Amino acid sequence: MNRKYRKTVIAGNWKMNKTPTETKAFMTEFKAILPKGRWCDIALCVPAVCITTAVRAMRETRVGIGAENCNANPSGAYTGEIAANMLADAGCKYVIIGHSERRAMGETDQDVNAKVKAAMEQGLIPIMCCGESLEQRELGITNEWIAMQIKSGLAGIPEEKIRKLVIAYEPIWAIGTGKTATPEQAEEVCEHIRSVIRKLYGSKNARAISILYGGSMNERNAFELLAQPDIDGGLIGGASLVPEKFVQIIEAANQPTA
Ligand code: PGA
Repeated sequence: MNRKYRKTVIAGNWKMNKTPTETKAFMTEFKAILPKGRWCDIALCVPAVCITTAVRAMRETRVGIGAENCNANPSGAYTGEIAANMLADAGCKYVIIGHSERRAMGETDQDVNAKVKAAMEQGLIPIMCCGESLEQRELGITNEWIAMQIKSGLAGIPEEKIRKLVIAYEPIWAIGTGKTATPEQAEEVCEHIRSVIRKLYGSKNARAISILYGGSMNERNAFELLAQPDIDGGLIGGASLVPEKFVQIIEAANQPTA
């Protein structure tokens, strides 16, 4: 983290978990133990049907609600899809884009790019995900792969808009597996991502953009991961489903920094 130059963001990704009723119960418990410190921004990205419940429950708090996906088109014949303006109108502040689980369902870098643009047009903060597979890591092509994902995802995004976006580095081999990247491994790639942003958008923007780590981040390893200079927060799956665990991660983000 480097709070002098950029925001720390702790974001939950509920994936396909919790009903609206369960959402309500979670929010009640979560609100009661939410830390008072104001060091980090907090986001909870929830299933589409839970958005309204979550927004209502967290109205008076500093927790921003997000979606887990959006469609790149503004409206039309896309049965089952949800447009960015619908999310914004429902009260969302964030939207996760390009999660590896969606990429595995066929989402391409071009789709990610179109969705990032659509989200930004509606004033949503995209949490754009990137990450390598175990095979790619073992082949030694992690940096090239990540650079390609970042460059394609951000194609056509102008300099004045880049700071309104959050990047999440999520090595696929670490998601939901309990195999967290070591703080050094995670830092190395987050630093690389910042260097890619530097080449594309200059050093001031690179210094200002928040880059999160995701992949089996939990209440036990968060402190060490967040202590790395280029890891500005976390995108948390499993551990964001339990209020106490998520709060402990928020507290880890409240640690003093140099
Ligand atoms: P996990 O998921 O924390 O359960 O590994 C992270 C993610 O996929 O965003």
